[in-house]
Amino acid sequence: MTSQKLLYEGKAKKVFETDVPGVVIVEFKDDATAFNGEKKGQIADKGVANAAISTKLFRLLEAQGIATHFREQLDARHLAVDLLHMIPLEVVVRNRVAGSLEKRTGLKEGTILPKAVIELYFKNDQLGDPLLNDDHIEVLQLATPELLQQLRSTATKINQILQQFFGQRQLILVDFKLEFGLKGDKLVLGDEISPDTCRLWDEQTLKKLDKDRFRRDLGGVEEAYHEVLERVLS
Ligand code: C5P
Repeated sequence: MTSQKLLYEGKAKKVFETDVPGVVIVEFKDDATAFNGEKKGQIADKGVANAAISTKLFRLLEAQGIATHFREQLDARHLAVDLLHMIPLEVVVRNRVAGSLEKRTGLKEGTILPKAVIELYFKNDQLGDPLLNDDHIEVLQLATPELLQQLRSTATKINQILQQFFGQRQLILVDFKLEFGLKGDKLVLGDEISPDTCRLWDEQTLKKLDKDRFRRDLGGVEEAYHEVLERVLS
């Protein structure tokens, strides 16, 4: 498979066309952004860590019956994936309070939620990715009520699988973001799962081992990504 024309460049990834119909190549960059692109930087070898972590997690999910876009890891920074018709929603799953949920509710960071909270955000940079309710999603025609229900149940199942996986590696899965697409009429998990898109804390020390280290200038950013990579591959 050869990488051809650049189809799309996002904040952390590039997507290339290939000579295989329906298959694209994703390149994981070291660029890091936060606060809707206001804060910019680089995290050494983040792309390598995130490609390997995503590969491991997509394989884990596939083995447990979740359809993902993953096909194969081509090299340290490149994955071959199925081209999807992306649904412009960010599906956030939360097990503990952090980030915008802390701001929205005033609950203390780290509070364990009595049930997983699922939130849907409109993937729209111009609007700043606002939180939507089901009626908004319906009137904007972003997803039918049936698809929305399927998104929620799939996200819940993914949460159960990932919580168990990270738990076995002494990591708390605080929250994470998923993006889905359609292949024909089949719902398929796309994008990536990595410390860019998950909050992960060490179970013993509660040390943050994710992009919050970059967002909040906590230092030790590269080390945190490397630590997660080592535990995920263990
Ligand atoms: O900022 P907030 O608390 O809403 O983020 C919830 C989760 O979703 C975090 O794990 C964060 O890394 C992830 N997220 C993301 N991309 C976004 C927004 C949030 O990966 N655009």
